Amino acid sequence: MSNENKTIHDFDFSLICDFFSNMERQGPGSPDVTLKALSFIDNLTETSLIADIGCGTGGQTMTLAKHVHGKITALDLFPDFIDILNRNAEHLGVQNRVKGIVASMINELPFEEESLDLIWSEGAIYNIGFERGLKEWRKYLKTGGYIAVSESSWFTDERPTEINDFWVDAYSEIDTIPNQIAKIHKAGYLPVATFVFPETCWTENYFAPKLTATKIFLNSHTGNKMAEELAASQSHEEVLYRKYKEFYGYTFFIAKKVERNSFNN
Ligand SMILES: C[S@@+](CC[C@H](N)C(=O)[O-])C[C@H]1O[C@@H](n2cnc3c(N)ncnc32)[C@H](O)[C@@H]1O
Repeated sequence: MSNENKTIHDFDFSLICDFFSNMERQGPGSPDVTLKALSFIDNLTETSLIADIGCGTGGQTMTLAKHVHGKITALDLFPDFIDILNRNAEHLGVQNRVKGIVASMINELPFEEESLDLIWSEGAIYNIGFERGLKEWRKYLKTGGYIAVSESSWFTDERPTEINDFWVDAYSEIDTIPNQIAKIHKAGYLPVATFVFPETCWTENYFAPKLTATKIFLNSHTGNKMAEELAASQSHEEVLYRKYKEFYGYTFFIAKKVERNSFNN
């Protein structure tokens, strides 16, 4: 495998964490897109319990905190991301209702069953897998509670081999939007809204800050081959996006938990 074709899975956690700690977000997105997704959710009050799964340093968590009054538990595997998130919550003065914790989404989550009003997860459900995450997280939601997840999607049924192969290697569960909506339905939710991220979520809100983060990262890892390869793989992702953006992107899916017995399984 050439260095630039390595995916994020080929690098060690501490390097990845160091690279992305210098960014407000660790994936494509924006406050506008977070708020648009939030606009489809109508059941939140001061007593609502919200989980933000795979929160990273909490870019979207802080946007949510500014616009909802419930209690947010944000979880991520990387302790450094959670430290940044908790510091940002303090700066924003919301530390009494926004708490970052270190936990893995792959394990049992630290929530009571049927306790959550909302599960939020931007650009992170791929770590457990779209279908598995939808199925396993459902039990933590109250009936009528919402899930809002963003996920990579194919925009066409067929695409050039180069980008197809890249994604099959990076995340083979990427799928077309109609198939993803069908999976949401099958997992026991009523799909409420679906929208595709605007390109600026990639270019302005993700790639531009990533360029600055890359400079800081390479300066602090001079001569480290693995660090150079990680930076190269990240810029390769941008090259691929600019070349093939008509074939894939990120989609926000908002859905509501409905009773199981209205479904076949
Ligand atoms: C692409 S980033 C998205 C971060 C943030 N939600 C955003 O949109 O900026 C994916 C996040 O998932 C986290 N992650 C990866 N594996 C995880 C796991 N098993 N449990 C919890 N978080 C995990 C990573 O640490 C990273 O912060």
